Amino acid sequence: MPGLQITSGSPRETERLGNLIGSLLRSGLFLALRGDLGGGKTCLTRGVVASLAPQSVHLVASPTYAIMNCYPGDTPVYHFDFYRLTGDDDIAELGFEEYFYGDGVCVVEWSERLGELLPPDVLTLQFEYKEEKRRLITLTSSGQKSDVVLELLAEKLHQQKNL
Ligand SMILES: Nc1ncnc2c1ncn2[C@@H]1O[C@H](COP(=O)(O)OP(=O)(O)OP(=O)(O)O)[C@@H](O)[C@H]1O
Ligand SMILES: [Mg+2]
Repeated sequence: MPGLQITSGSPRETERLGNLIGSLLRSGLFLALRGDLGGGKTCLTRGVVASLAPQSVHLVASPTYAIMNCYPGDTPVYHFDFYRLTGDDDIAELGFEEYFYGDGVCVVEWSERLGELLPPDVLTLQFEYKEEKRRLITLTSSGQKSDVVLELLAEKLHQQKNL
């Protein structure tokens, strides 16, 4: 399906979008978050975790030093941040692929740094900083699992608009 564009007018709205996306995710889904610094990737992740692993939502922060944080829940969320990894680091050697193809949901900030390690079927969210509080978020899917999520999301957003 074609991509979906959403404008967020506040951190709360971005978190709510994350919450809605989280409610549609199942084990094995991969969210690739990319785009501007301060675009709202961590903010959206908080919403996803609030939905899937609510007991861990207070822990959500940029995993600046850890590269990965795990938030346990019925569906565990593996939250990566590859901002600090450059081409010189061999991400393949870090052994993250067992998580990428594992039992949880992966939410990956700065997924553009993964290059060819990016799994084929991912829901991509591109964040653009427009104004102090306005962000443009463009969603695209690249495989069967992520297509389904994007279609469901489009339906849910459409329903909300018509309420
Ligand atoms: N509509 C919005 N959506 C999300 N965050 C917003 C919005 N408007 C303002 N903000 C602010 O922008 C910042 C977004 O920070 P956040 O850490 O989520 O971005 P990020 O994309 O994860 O950045 P980084 O690339 O450094 O990891 C927060 O300070 C938040 O309060
Ligand atoms: Mg972040």
